[in-house]
Amino acid sequence: MAEKEGEKQVDEGKIPLLTPYKMCNFELSHRVVLAPLTRLRSYGNVPQPHAILYYSQRTTKGGLLISEATDVSDTAQGYPETPGIWTKEQVEAWKPIVDAVHAKGGIFFCQIWHVGRVSNTGFQPNGQAPISSTDKQLFPQLRSNGIEAAQCTPPRKLTTEEIPLVVNDFRLAARNAIEAGFDGIEIHGAHGYLIEQFMKDQVNDRTDQYGGSLQNRCRFALEIVEAIVNEIGPDRVGIRLTPFTDYMDAGDSNPEALGIYMAESLNKYRILYCHMVEPRWKVEGENVETPHSLAPMRKAFNGTFISAGGYEMEDGNTAVAENRTDLVAYGRLFLANPDLPKRFELKAPLNKYNRETFYTSDPVIGYTDYPFLDSRD
Ligand SMILES: Cc1cc2nc3c(=O)[nH]c(=O)nc-3n(C[C@H](O)[C@H](O)[C@H](O)COP(=O)(O)O)c2cc1C
Repeated sequence: MAEKEGEKQVDEGKIPLLTPYKMCNFELSHRVVLAPLTRLRSYGNVPQPHAILYYSQRTTKGGLLISEATDVSDTAQGYPETPGIWTKEQVEAWKPIVDAVHAKGGIFFCQIWHVGRVSNTGFQPNGQAPISSTDKQLFPQLRSNGIEAAQCTPPRKLTTEEIPLVVNDFRLAARNAIEAGFDGIEIHGAHGYLIEQFMKDQVNDRTDQYGGSLQNRCRFALEIVEAIVNEIGPDRVGIRLTPFTDYMDAGDSNPEALGIYMAESLNKYRILYCHMVEPRWKVEGENVETPHSLAPMRKAFNGTFISAGGYEMEDGNTAVAENRTDLVAYGRLFLANPDLPKRFELKAPLNKYNRETFYTSDPVIGYTDYPFLDSRD
């Protein structure tokens, strides 16, 4: 296997997570990535000025940030107050947020998503049914992404002819993200949302060229990748995948084969990165014992590999030192510690996250009021 970029950059004696890494055209000064985090504070699907402070608090010079999941179209929404990127107003509203991250030297990718059947008629234009790969209804989830899930209404299975239109929505969203100033986009192919509703055999019951075999089930995801790569170029495209999780009743009978097939197929498009969530992160909120690992996908994928899911400082350092990943994305720890890389550097204590305010709509509380190290008493 070709030596992975950055492999030699972990010098002995240095904290592995805090070593630089060259991700194609991006010179990262460390490997602690802000994971995508939905915060439900974009009123009316428009990013708000309070997000300027939130993201810039979490920016370091040469640090990589991934935005919260951002709706690609008016049918993409399944939770209240999620940001969109399909209208001019939304694109304009993202600009000052992206500018603030850039002003501090950060690198900012926009995670673009479509929830598919994890929605209900109340979120849909003209009260229509949510779209999906299937017409099987998702029955109420106790928790989805930590959110008490709303009732999902029965979805409408997309016809074969309609699928290119949804692919096109992703392409346009990617173009809009670049227009807004983002350095690139991350395709949200994880956690049981629309792309996984095609990829995973527990959900996909199609009989056309988008269902059945593994190749067919992955066709939708790869058509999106191809369309976006053609639109904005491969070095600005990442994807997030969770072959091992079964959120939203989206499990697969052979997650390892799915993960490897995707990693190998992505190589053809030469995209920038593949971001995967650890198999141990199967149940929301805790690490579980598992015989599976991301190693085969890490090995199969030629670009930058990002791992996430239940990481703390120590195991993040070990994963980088052992070359099991290039970068580590932190979700809850970064949410609660805006200066997370600095705290890792100083081995300083961490603020505890407050789950109660993950998804509330306050523009400050639980959002921008987590203290920095130097602002503590
Ligand atoms: C509040 C919250 C919001 C999240 N929103 C998203 C999201 O928008 N997109 C996504 O891919 N994952 C999302 N996740 C999953 C995280 O990116 C991450 O994979 C997960 O929290 C595990 O990492 P951690 O142990 O470092 O928190 C969310 C998680 C939390 C806690």
